[in-house]
Amino acid sequence: MNRLHYKLSAAMLAIVFLLGVAFYQIDRYSVRIYHEELSQRLNSSIAMYVVNAEPLISGGRVNFEALSELSNRAMIINPTAEIYLLAPDGKILGHALAPDEISVERIDVGPIRDLLSASRPLPIKGVDPRNPGAQKIFSAFPVVDPDISSSDAGYLYVVLGGSQYEAVAAQVSGSDKQRMVATGIVLLMLAAFVAGTLLFSLLTRRLRKLTADVTEFTQSQLEVNNPIDRVAQPRDEIDQLRNTCHFMTNTIQQQIARLQESDRLRRELFTNISHDLRTPLASMQGYIETLIIKDEALDRVTRRQYLDTACKHAAHLGRLIQDLFELAMFDSGNATPVFEEFSLTELIHDVAQEFRLQADEAQVSLQVDPHDETVNVYADISLIQRVLENLVGNALKYTPEGGKVSISVQAYSAAVGVSVVDTGAGISAQALPHIFDRFYRENREVDEDRGSTGLGLAIAKRILELHGSEIRVTSEERHGTRFDFDLPLQARAA
Ligand SMILES: Nc1ncnc2c1ncn2[C@@H]1O[C@H](COP(=O)(O)OP(=O)(O)OP(=O)(O)O)[C@@H](O)[C@H]1O
Ligand SMILES: [Mg+2]
Repeated sequence: MNRLHYKLSAAMLAIVFLLGVAFYQIDRYSVRIYHEELSQRLNSSIAMYVVNAEPLISGGRVNFEALSELSNRAMIINPTAEIYLLAPDGKILGHALAPDEISVERIDVGPIRDLLSASRPLPIKGVDPRNPGAQKIFSAFPVVDPDISSSDAGYLYVVLGGSQYEAVAAQVSGSDKQRMVATGIVLLMLAAFVAGTLLFSLLTRRLRKLTADVTEFTQSQLEVNNPIDRVAQPRDEIDQLRNTCHFMTNTIQQQIARLQESDRLRRELFTNISHDLRTPLASMQGYIETLIIKDEALDRVTRRQYLDTACKHAAHLGRLIQDLFELAMFDSGNATPVFEEFSLTELIHDVAQEFRLQADEAQVSLQVDPHDETVNVYADISLIQRVLENLVGNALKYTPEGGKVSISVQAYSAAVGVSVVDTGAGISAQALPHIFDRFYRENREVDEDRGSTGLGLAIAKRILELHGSEIRVTSEERHGTRFDFDLPLQARAA
């Protein structure tokens, strides 16, 4: 019963049932009223005929014989008629029934007056003296005493639908006609229910389709981190749609937050880029202008010094532009790594060789561990070289004299773990979460002097992401730093 369609059908069944019962009752009631009005009209003259047939009261005395005789005759014409002779105040003066059948002495003459004056629409009901709790239709006519002609001597009151009528009515109510009406109503109810159910099914079909579509979409988009306010047990399509709406609202909110964050980062990036581009450019320009202005006034050594500095800034600018270009390429998705199988150990030895002179000059020991084993990986060799160069470059940059930098390789069943460990300055806990951000340098001024751009780790992170890998860092201030990442293992030779 989880579907909206079933619920609507159940509601409709209840409504149709109630309507059917109400219709049946209204039908019975209206048939009864109609029948009573018809009977009262048809029999309205009975009382008049009886009264005009013979004087029922003469000289103030009731003529019981005539009353009994006329009662019998009237009952031949209409067997449901029961005749009473009433005084003007409603006192029962005489009747042709057995005495113990009558339980009241007087009845209300209001309805008789209403009937005679035609002040109310038919049917008008009066008290049945045999059964004072019940109201019956009747016929009535004023009785005149021929000896006392000045006023009415009473009324002739004919109850229509007496005991005979009730017996026949009881038989008719269970008759085929009644059963036919009831069957007709039940069939109509069934037809209305079937038609309604079909209609609901047609109308809710599109809703079901929409629900199925959005549910499919939600499931395909389902993110682990989407804590939506879900209806735990969706009861119908509307609950399901509600869930989907919550999911979509949540996703949109997350996307807006992400867009705002990326917008903020973009603006920050622009500020950093312009600063980082402007600084070397400005000092380069300064030195060159000085050279032009002072020209002959400068001695050879100073001129050489100025030119070297300008050249150093130009090189830094070149590197910065190259790094930015590379990052933009990775971001745009235009740079796809060229995967191939190569010896990681060889590459590490090559990189170590590249930095050997710098390490010796800085009196830092640079080691590769293990030295001999050959491990092959499946990756883009030049990109991985770029990652290793940055990590080893950083390690040497931040490790003081007498320190140690080691590059190690550890082969697991499906991947190769690479670590670059140094015993240098370490990174502070505040700086640690930001070192992979673009342009982040813990000590901006010092690092800028060293020609750092703050893009090295951001590039390394992007390169490893393109390899489906992640770079991890652990560091302790004044004790050293360790960077780790994994590469897919293609083949391993001893
Ligand atoms: N081995 C390390 N020891 C101490 N600090 C480090 C180390 N590696 C990185 N850092 C910190 O992380 C920051 C970011 O490093 P990243 O390689 O991105 O930039 P950079 O080395 O300053 O510049 P670039 O690599 O572009 O020349 C550095 O400025 C430094 O503060
Ligand atoms: Mg670096």
